[in-house]
Amino acid sequence: MTEKFETRMVHAGRAGTKTYGYVNPKLVRGSTVLYPNMATKLALGKRVLEPVELYGICGTETHFALEAAVAEIEGGSHCQVVGSGLAAITTPLLAYLSAGDHVLMPDSVYGPTRHFCATMLKRFGIETSYYDPMIDAAGITALMQPTTKVVFTESPGSHTFEVQDIPALASAAHAHGAKIFMDNTWGIHHFQPFKHGVDVSIQALTKYVGGHSDIILGAVTVNSEADWAWLRKGSLELGQYASPDDCWLALRGLRTLNIRLQAAERSGLQLASWFAARPEVARVLHPAFASCPGHEFFKRDFTGSCGLFGVAFQPHYSAAAIVAMIDSLQLFGIGASWGGYESLVLPTTGTISRSAGTGTFEGHVARFQVGLENIEDLIADLTLGLDVLNRYE
Ligand SMILES: Cc1ncc(COP(=O)(O)O)c(C=O)c1O
Repeated sequence: MTEKFETRMVHAGRAGTKTYGYVNPKLVRGSTVLYPNMATKLALGKRVLEPVELYGICGTETHFALEAAVAEIEGGSHCQVVGSGLAAITTPLLAYLSAGDHVLMPDSVYGPTRHFCATMLKRFGIETSYYDPMIDAAGITALMQPTTKVVFTESPGSHTFEVQDIPALASAAHAHGAKIFMDNTWGIHHFQPFKHGVDVSIQALTKYVGGHSDIILGAVTVNSEADWAWLRKGSLELGQYASPDDCWLALRGLRTLNIRLQAAERSGLQLASWFAARPEVARVLHPAFASCPGHEFFKRDFTGSCGLFGVAFQPHYSAAAIVAMIDSLQLFGIGASWGGYESLVLPTTGTISRSAGTGTFEGHVARFQVGLENIEDLIADLTLGLDVLNRYE
C-alpha cells in the first residue's frame, strides 16, 4: 500500500533513529566521532557515501533523518542537506561542472543563481547562456553546445512564475548527454522531479519545510548511485555542512508541512482570484491561472500550488504608487523569502534581471506570499492598499 503524503510526512526520517523511545529523532551536535579501534575507523572511513557517523562534516543522525525525509518528499534515492537554499544550487553546479563546460540557465532564474554564474562560475571558466523559460525541446536543442553539461531549470520562475515544460527539456538535454538540474522549491511535494526527467532536484528548505521563518537550509536530491557519488564527494570536498539545530527544526516543520501547504494553496488561490477580478490588475502570475505563462504544464505536471504568486498591475500605476500601496499594508510584511506562516509582499519589477529578452509585463509587478492569517483580514488590508494606489498622485 502506498501511503498518502500526509501519512508519509508523519513517519519520514524516523525509521532507524536511536530515539530511546521518544517520538522525534534526536538533535545530535558533534564534530569528533570516537571509534573503538583503528580497524573500525579504517573500515568506516570507506563508507562516505552512506549515512554513517564518521566525523561531524559527514553528518549526524539528525542530518541523516532529514535527508531520508527530503529524499522521500522528492521521490529520489539520496539527499544531501547543505547550509542554505543557495548552497543547494551552487554545490551541485560546482561538484558537476569543470572549466570549459557550458550551462543553460532559464532567464527567469532566482537572482543569486544568476549572480553565481556571472561571478564564480565565470571565474572558473564555466560559461552560462540564458534561454526563454518557455522554450520547447527543439529550441533548447538548438542552444546546446558540444560543451553543454547542465540544463538548469526553475519552475515556476522566480518573480515571474513561468512554468517550464520539464519533460520536454529533459528529453532534449538527455539526448545531448547533459543533465537536468531543477530548483523545485515552489513545487515542493506538488511536483515530483524524478518522474519528469530531472536528475538533480534542489530545495530551499528555508521556505515551506522550515515554515516558520527561522532557519536557512537547503537540500540536493538525486535518484541514482552515479549522481549520488559525484554529489556527495563534491559536497564533502567543498566542506558543505548544515547546522543540526536547523535540520531538527526542518524535521519538525515536515510534520505540519501538508496542512500548512494546503492552507497556503487555498488562501493563495483565493487571493489570486480576488486580484484577478480587480480593475487595478492587468494579470495574475499564478501557475494555476490561465494568465500565467506555462499554465498548461502546471495543469499537466503539478498536483497543486503554494501561496506564492505575482501580480502585474495596470501600466498607468507608477512605481511610486505601488510602493505607497505596499507601505500602507498592515498585514503584509516587506521582506524577502517565503513559505513562512506570515504574509509578505515585495515590489519585483526592479529585481527582474533578464538576458534573453523575456519577463516583460503590462505594468509594475509585485510578489505576494500568503501566510496563515485569515483570508478576509488579508483581503480587507489589500482593499485599503488598493485605495491608496488609486489615490496616489
Ligand atoms: C526559488 C528559490 N530558490 C532558492 C532560494 C535560496 O534559498 P535560501 O534563502 O535558503 O538561500 C530562494 C530564496 O528566496 C528561492 O526563492
